[in-house]
Amino acid sequence: MNISIIGSGYVGLVTGACFAELGNRVICADNDIKKIAHLKKGIIPIYEPGLEELVAHNVKKKRLRFSSSIKDAVKNSEIIFIAVGTPALENGEADLTGIENVARNIAMNMTSYRLIVEKSTVPVETGEWLKRTISTYIKRKIEFDVASNPEFLREGQAINDFMHPDRIVIGVESKRAKEVLTNLYKPLNAPIVTTNIKSAELIKHACNAFLANKISFINAISRICDKVGADVKEVADGMGLDKRIGASFLNAGVGYGGSCFPKDVDAFIKISEKLGYDFALLKAVKNINEEQKDFILKKLKDILWIVKDKTIGVLGLSFKPNTDDIRNAPSLDLINALQTEGAKIKVYDPQAMEKAKGILRQVRFCQDPYEVCRGSDCLLIVTEWDEFKELDFAKVKKLLKRPFIVDGRNIYEPQKLKKQGFTYIGIGRKGYE
Ligand code: UDX
Repeated sequence: MNISIIGSGYVGLVTGACFAELGNRVICADNDIKKIAHLKKGIIPIYEPGLEELVAHNVKKKRLRFSSSIKDAVKNSEIIFIAVGTPALENGEADLTGIENVARNIAMNMTSYRLIVEKSTVPVETGEWLKRTISTYIKRKIEFDVASNPEFLREGQAINDFMHPDRIVIGVESKRAKEVLTNLYKPLNAPIVTTNIKSAELIKHACNAFLANKISFINAISRICDKVGADVKEVADGMGLDKRIGASFLNAGVGYGGSCFPKDVDAFIKISEKLGYDFALLKAVKNINEEQKDFILKKLKDILWIVKDKTIGVLGLSFKPNTDDIRNAPSLDLINALQTEGAKIKVYDPQAMEKAKGILRQVRFCQDPYEVCRGSDCLLIVTEWDEFKELDFAKVKKLLKRPFIVDGRNIYEPQKLKKQGFTYIGIGRKGYE
């Protein structure tokens, strides 16, 4: 099929490259001329394992190309995915300016039937607005369909998530749209959930909100564990084996970050408010996530007492491992709070340092974890990169000014470190600290 993806950001690029890999002819378009020029040279603006190779392979096979012209994209494809950003406005609502702009441009350049698919995460009822906008700006009477096909791609494993999805959700209003999308996804052999457009839009927000809910729930449990001397990992294991609950997304820690959960939770609270429903549960999810960072800082201060002029070594900047993404990363808030109290910061992250250099001030960026340890009064783990799990602790102990570890992701065994002479503080692990 001939497909175009408008918006060559994270979701757009992964989606475009994967559809091309499935044998379709794909145009990835973007109005950022510099970005398109880079992509044409094979330079990928994000770090995602396997993406560079996948793009190169499909460009070579002539199944994937890049364009800075929406006209070109609309003219040469029957299916148009909208994957532009929907950043948060000051009040938490999603900014849909980009979506509206693309809809107008599609309408003005359409010459025959097109299926326009929302891929970006959007508030419920955006599909209605898309239809209205396209009808308003279309030049003559041309048939078109709008559909919703939310993505469930996790950064760091997005290609695998695309190729092996748990399910595919398509929200459609016509037989034709249903057939086109079902055929497009047929090669993936995955269950397809067909709904109306509004349900599909809601499924996306409901999923992210529910997952954020799970994380905040286990983080709340970690607080109780700390109070009574229980171990949150054991509690999570005991809960997770119940099939109705499931073991995933029950890792307590510094809280969720990234480009989706914080933004989508805020947007969902706002949408509900606009619709006349006070989503109090989701407000609590957000608050627990914010409080978790204060909780960790308090633990650190309980041992260090005075933070001013102490050196804190931070391991991990990205909001989770295997990505260089630092959007809404808990590391940024933690470092800011520590700096406000006068602490000196040394940090290391395997991928995210370049991006962080543009944001963090007066931080010493190190070559490896051991350089971070040298002379630090405390080692704070913020992201659970594999390489932090296998440190040489004898070396770490020698390098630290005092053998003190705050494990914000519960990656170490408290008793093991205790035996090696460390003061170890985890999240909800009082039972073993
Ligand atoms: C998420 C959704 O998973 C994906 O389906 C959606 O399309 C986009 O948003 P992503 O933001 O890439 O994906 O990351 P994810 O792996 O879901 O993790 C989100 C955050 O939750 C991270 O900060 C992670 O550290 C945190 N997390 C996750 C926990 O704190 N505990 C857990 O048990 C799981």
